[in-house]
Amino acid sequence: MSPILVPQSQWLPSKTFAGQVALVTGGGTGLGLEISRGLAALGAHVAIASRNQAHHQAFLEEAQAQGWSVESLALDVREASACRDLIDGLVERHGKLDHLVNNAAGNFVCPSHRLSANAWRAVLSIVLDGTFYCSKHAGIHMLRQGFGTQLNIVATYAWTGMPGVVHSASAKAGVLTMTKTLAAEWAPYGIRVNAVAPGPFASEGAKGNLWPDDETEERIRRNVPMGRFATTQEVAAQCLWLMSPACAYVTGDCLTIDGGLSLGAGRLFADGQRPGKRDEPR
Ligand code: COA
Repeated sequence: MSPILVPQSQWLPSKTFAGQVALVTGGGTGLGLEISRGLAALGAHVAIASRNQAHHQAFLEEAQAQGWSVESLALDVREASACRDLIDGLVERHGKLDHLVNNAAGNFVCPSHRLSANAWRAVLSIVLDGTFYCSKHAGIHMLRQGFGTQLNIVATYAWTGMPGVVHSASAKAGVLTMTKTLAAEWAPYGIRVNAVAPGPFASEGAKGNLWPDDETEERIRRNVPMGRFATTQEVAAQCLWLMSPACAYVTGDCLTIDGGLSLGAGRLFADGQRPGKRDEPR
C-alpha cells in the first residue's frame, strides 16, 4: 500500500496559521522539521529551538527561499530557566505565542536491567521535565492571552509499555497524563492541549536510535497491520490538524497514528504476516 504523498500544508486552508506565532522544540529535524515547515507554509512565524543550531540550517535556507518567517534558537529543554527565558523573549519580540509543539525527545533501545541511572535521567529530563518546563512557561503567556494550543508527541507504548524503552515509555506516559491534566486545567482559559502517538515513521533520529539495521526495520514493518511505516509528512499533517481551528473543540486527546500497530491484531494469529490469497473473501 503506497502512502498518500500530499504536502502536509495542502490539507488545510492556506492561511490557517497566518499572523500566528509558533515554537517547535527539536524543530530542525525529523517530525519537528515537518511540523515547522507546515506551520510556516500556512502562515505562522515559526521559532525552532534545540541544542544544536547546526541542525536548523536546512530549514533556515528553505524558509528564505520560500519567503517564510522563521527564527532559530538554542535551547536545552532540560534547563528550566532556559525554557523560561527563551519563551519570555519570544513573546517579548512577537507579542504573543499561539502554539507550542513539544517535540524535543531522546530515545534509544536498551534492556532495563542495563540502563544506567544517568541514561534513565537523560531521557526523563528531556522528555518529561523538558515538556513540563516549556508547557508551563508557554502556559503562563497563553493564560494571560486567553488562547493558545500545545501539542505533545508521545508514543503508543505510553499505555502499552514496550520492552527496551522503559525510560522513554515512562516519560511518555507522564507526558500523556500531563496533556490531559493541563488540558483540563487550562480549557476554561481558551488553551487546548493535545497529543499524538505516532507509530514508526521514517526519520534519521528513529533510524539511528531505534532500528539501526535493515533487518530490525523490516521486522517492525511486518508487524504494522497496514504493512508500511508512516511518512513524516503524514504524521505532521495530523499534528497541524489538531492545532488548527478545525479541532477547536478537541482538548486533552491523543491521536494515534500508527497504521494499526498498537491494535496488535496482526500479531495474535499470524505473527505480523499480512493476509495472503487464502484470506481473501470467498
Ligand atoms: N544505550 C545505553 N545507554 C545509552 C545509550 C544507548 N544507546 N545512549 C546513551 N546512553 C547513556 C550514556 O551511556 C549515558 O549514561 P552513563 O553516563 O551512565 O554512561 C547516558 O545515557 C547519557 O548519555 P549522553 O550521551 O551523555 O547524554 P546526552 O544528553 O548527550 O544524550 C540521549 C541524550 C542519550 C537521549 C541521546 O540519545 C540524545 O540526545 N538523543 C537525541 C536524539 C533522539 O534520541 N531523538 C529521538 C529519536 S526517536
